[in-house]
Order: sequence, then C-alpha cells, then structure tokens
Amino acid sequence: MKVCRTIDELRNHLTEAPRPVGLVPTMGALHEGHLSLVRAARDRCDTIVMSIFVNPLQFGPGEDFDRYPRSEQADLAAAEREKVDLVFVPSVAEMYPDDRSTTVRVAGVSENFEGAIRPDHFDGVATVVTKLFGIVQPDIAFFGRKDAQQLAVVRRLVADLSLPIEVVACETVRDPDGLAMSSRNAYLSAEDRERATALWKALEAGAAALRRGGDPAEAEKAMLAILEPATDHVDYVAVVDPDTFSAPLRAHPHLLIVAARLGETRLIDNLLVEDIA
Ligand code: PAJ
Repeated sequence: MKVCRTIDELRNHLTEAPRPVGLVPTMGALHEGHLSLVRAARDRCDTIVMSIFVNPLQFGPGEDFDRYPRSEQADLAAAEREKVDLVFVPSVAEMYPDDRSTTVRVAGVSENFEGAIRPDHFDGVATVVTKLFGIVQPDIAFFGRKDAQQLAVVRRLVADLSLPIEVVACETVRDPDGLAMSSRNAYLSAEDRERATALWKALEAGAAALRRGGDPAEAEKAMLAILEPATDHVDYVAVVDPDTFSAPLRAHPHLLIVAARLGETRLIDNLLVEDIA
C-alpha cells in the first residue's frame, strides 16, 4: 500500500495502476461502515484508492472541524488490512492553495434538510468530491447510503457534469442495536449512546406506518413520537424522494430521514422503503 500526501505523487502512482480504479472518499476515523465501501470496491476494481481528508470547506463556523476525530495511524493500518492500494492523505494546503477560487454548488437537492441546517455544507462536499474525482479520475466511486442526501447530491453532480464515473451506493452498516456507525458516535457519552438507538427505532416505526398503508404524514408522526422524548432536539423527521429530497411520488421508493441532537452531538440516519403500494 502506498501512502501519497501530494497530488503529483498520487498521479504518478496512478499512471501505472490497472483499471478499473475505484475511489473511496473518507474523512478518516475509519469504522466498519467505511471498510464496507472498500470491500465493495474490491469486488469491482483492480485498483482501490482511499482518500482521508477532513475537509474544512464542509464544516460551518462553530461546527466540529477542530475536534473531528483524527486517527491516521490506525486508519492506515485498517486500510492496509483491507488491501487498499493507494491512500491519499493530503494536507489542507495541498488541497486548497491560497489562490483557489472555485466552489461547486449543486442546487435543488442540496437545499433542504441537511443543507438548510448546515448552510455551505454541501458546497464543501461537492467541491471536494469534484476535486477528488479530478485528481483520481476513478472509474467507480463508492458512497454510503448513511449520508443519503450527500449521495443524492453526488449523483446529481455526476449526471449534470457528465462525469464518466459510476457512483455505487453501499448499505448502511449498523451496530447490533441498530445505531448507524458514524465517526461522530465517538462523541457520545454512555447515556447518550443508549438514547441514540431512538433514531433507528423511529425509522422502523415510520417504515411500519408506511407499510400499513399510512401516508407520509402518519409516518412522520410515528417517527416524532419516538424521537422527541428520547433526544434533546429533533432537527427534522421527513419522508422524501431519495433522488430529489422533495415530496415522494406515490408508489415510488420513500426515504425516511431523521436528524436529532444528543447533548453536543448531532446524528442523522435514514431508511429506504421500496415496497410502497
Ligand atoms: P465520512 O463521514 O468519513 O464518510 C465516508 C463515506 O463512508 C461516505 O460515503 C459515508 O456515507 C460512508 N459511511 C459512513 N458511515 C457509514 C455506515 N455506517 N455505513 C456505510 N457507509 C458509511 O462522507 C464523508 O466522509 C465526506 O462528506 C466525504 C464524502 C469524504 C467528502 O469530504
């Protein structure tokens, strides 16, 4: 496994790399969710590139950029065990020279929910993902369904810019009690970790409501009834179209989405319900 810290170094290694090349973008603090993306990449690709970069552009003022968990040595060991070929670990200066002046903005799908609560977040994601696509020029890029709105934004970006990249969505990896794995789970106190199971319970209750023939409003009510008493603040519960994040069409897949705060920690999760009558 080669660890590359500059764009030139990575590009040099990539000139000889067998295709298809798969890219797994991450911010590190790797867990089984991230590693599941690498395993999906291994099934499809002859070269796997993982990026580890805590992207300052996608954190708002007052968010957790400074305290975001960083564990480079452990991450590199995990990447090596998973047989990643190239790890790209750039510095902020390498990615964003002082004279940079381009921002990638995906309108529409990036504006609601996470985009409304975290202004500029998806501009930061779209900008770094576009740059990583330009640097690595992957054939296939792997993203988790855990960050469903991010996935929708990336799909829109790839389609709108006609990028010759296949986007593969990977299922959310969960702890045995249903909590979606997240680097931010490390922030939770023991008590908040217990309460955090409410996100998954709320999603299951919402899905049950839809499967009983309930409409989105009923599913949202069922989710709120679980989430509100269990968390410190509910940012949103909603039922949306997984591609546009606007109101779902009848008989199309419905995506249940939740975001809530436990102490200082903000968690998001989602569940896709496809068998809607
Ligand atoms: P990060 O939060 O590190 O996540 C990297 C990738 O892992 C994303 O595609 C995310 O959806 C996926 N992932 C996280 N938790 C998962 C889980 N429990 N199961 C399956 N996949 C999971 O998302 C980002 O970083 C950044 O926004 C990034 C795309 C790297 C751009 O900076």
